Amino acid sequence: MNLSSPPKLLLGVTGGIAAYKAAELARMFVKAGWQVQVVMTAHAAEFVTPLTFQALTGRETRGALFDSAHEAAMGHIELARWPDAIVIAPASANTLAKLAQGRADDLLSTLCLATDKPLFVAPAMNRLMWANAATQENMATLRRRGITQLGPGSGAQACGEVGEGRMWEPEQVFDAVCAALDSARDLDGVHAVVTAGPTREPLDPVRFITNRSSGKQGYAVAAALVARGAKVTLISGPTNLPTPQGVLRIDVESAEQMLGMSLAVAAEAQLFIGTAAVADYRASTIAPEKLKKSGETMTVTFSKNPDILATVRDAQPRLFMVGFAAETENLADNARAKLARKKLDLVAANWVGEGKAFDTDDNALQLFWDGGGTEIPRAAKAIVAERLVAVIAERYRLRP
Ligand code: CTP
Repeated sequence: MNLSSPPKLLLGVTGGIAAYKAAELARMFVKAGWQVQVVMTAHAAEFVTPLTFQALTGRETRGALFDSAHEAAMGHIELARWPDAIVIAPASANTLAKLAQGRADDLLSTLCLATDKPLFVAPAMNRLMWANAATQENMATLRRRGITQLGPGSGAQACGEVGEGRMWEPEQVFDAVCAALDSARDLDGVHAVVTAGPTREPLDPVRFITNRSSGKQGYAVAAALVARGAKVTLISGPTNLPTPQGVLRIDVESAEQMLGMSLAVAAEAQLFIGTAAVADYRASTIAPEKLKKSGETMTVTFSKNPDILATVRDAQPRLFMVGFAAETENLADNARAKLARKKLDLVAANWVGEGKAFDTDDNALQLFWDGGGTEIPRAAKAIVAERLVAVIAERYRLRP
């Protein structure tokens, strides 16, 4: 990702005793040459004064959403576009909940809704508030949307309790943000297409054949590509997932629609990653009216669907193409066979069945390319996606 020069940070400070750590964080970014604009919530100002941040950053701290003087100088939409990144530290349970719900009831939450810039949150709260299912679900929603979670750490808390919920130290937040933005640069200017989710093959106006794919791994790959600076088009079958921040999503249903859209978008792309669980067959005829029950058995004739990866490869020989291989046996042999048959640059293989990979939150992958390979051990799908995209970025740069 190309940062502006000097790079610009919007630092959101929300209510909590850890707000004092944000002053040190602001100082670190300023010292490293960043322009820092602080936006505080009303509760944050109960812990640290706006003047503290103004003195550290040389810019007036913003707080109010409806402030005519500030809106005339730099309105909230303009402010949302201004930074290279937004870091909320500390991020209170209330702020995480508001972000997860898409609320816009103060300046900071409005900015977060109106931006497509990388967003980092450093949660800080009492250990029971952090462990609460509501907070955990909000955080999981934010991670799925491509928001980067920094911490929390564990240890003694201001309330006298000991446990998880302490805000990361300012150096940890600073290092993690810089590392994420640095690694982001290596896919800058690259257009990546990701297919994800299941396809739906209609039988009649109300019925279809589909599979158990949730789309989680593909959406995580799309988010990880954006984090490294790629422009991402996500061609998605039906899922219940939110679109990751910064991703252009195109919804399709059948394999034929996914193929048509893939061919159109791939013509403008450099990377193509097929994570979708495409139905191999479709009903040979789709009944125009709802099928009525009649005999004790029913026979449906299926016809083979086109192979999206192989068709796109034939149309775009220069595209760097990654396929997935879902296997229940002979993983390495089957994966290498797919690499050759579909003329791919890389295959990511995983074991499926017995509760593995499909519709779960974690995954493990074995990667194969011509003359090499590596393994990504079991982890949350977001982490597996980051590691996979790191390997893809490296192989993409090494391509002849
Ligand atoms: N794929 C595709 N078009 C299809 C079927 C699959 O592009 N019609 C892609 C998937 O997105 C995935 C890869 O091919 O990246 C592997 O899919 P898989 O179903 O495991 O392999 P197949 O080639 O269908 O082989 P088999 O069913 O024999 O395992």
